Amino acid sequence: MNTEITTTEETFQPDYAGLQSYLDYVQKRRSIRKLTSGPVPDETIRGIVEAGRWSPSSANSQPTRIVIVKERHKELWDFIESTLKQNLQGEQLQRALNRLPGYRSGVFTLVFYEDSAVADNPPFPGGQERWKNFSAQALGIAQANVWNAIAAAGLAASNQHINLQIEEELRDFLGVPATWRSYSIFPVGYADETPEEGSRHPHEEVIFYEQGPAA
Ligand SMILES: Cc1cc2nc3c(=O)[nH]c(=O)nc-3n(C[C@H](O)[C@H](O)[C@H](O)COP(=O)(O)O)c2cc1C
Repeated sequence: MNTEITTTEETFQPDYAGLQSYLDYVQKRRSIRKLTSGPVPDETIRGIVEAGRWSPSSANSQPTRIVIVKERHKELWDFIESTLKQNLQGEQLQRALNRLPGYRSGVFTLVFYEDSAVADNPPFPGGQERWKNFSAQALGIAQANVWNAIAAAGLAASNQHINLQIEEELRDFLGVPATWRSYSIFPVGYADETPEEGSRHPHEEVIFYEQGPAA
């Protein structure tokens, strides 16, 4: 009997419970746009954003920056409302305004930034565009990790892009360097709505085993 192989097989077992628990959180994460308030300790928020800080990035370049707004959460949404009123008009303004109460009634807001000093400066000559794309991928992974962590903590959020309509004003309000580019805003709180059942394309349309569909 080859005990070495037996030992190896016993040692390298997938952790099914760990995988299932992770998948549960991935599926629990939804876009929740109507939030309500409740107690959220600062340590919980710190834990959530740690999921962003520990996210992977190209050559460990770490282009992601996150601003947490808790004390000024309501002030931030009042500021966003008045700035949107200055910058937008008509139906576009109305659509944006309709959703704001659901965000303002949450607990805190996370604003994601990309540090262009990192994203625009590859550590090797050339490859500027590829490096920027890698930075965008890193930001996406950081946002996904934070969003999943929010779900794991029993909280809810959505991924908003109002920041793109108020970039300069938001920069001043938050006091971030001119070199940071805003990515998105996550209003976070307790869920005050039950989303429709989640849907995705069928497994076979998205996942391919060994060969793609053109083979
Ligand atoms: C890159 C990206 C941009 C998004 N932008 C917005 C947005 O601006 N506003 C919004 O309400 N939802 C936004 N969403 C949320 C998507 O609409 C949502 O994730 C998708 O419909 C799946 O629903 P679920 O998040 O509930 O699973 C965005 C999601 C991603 C990943």
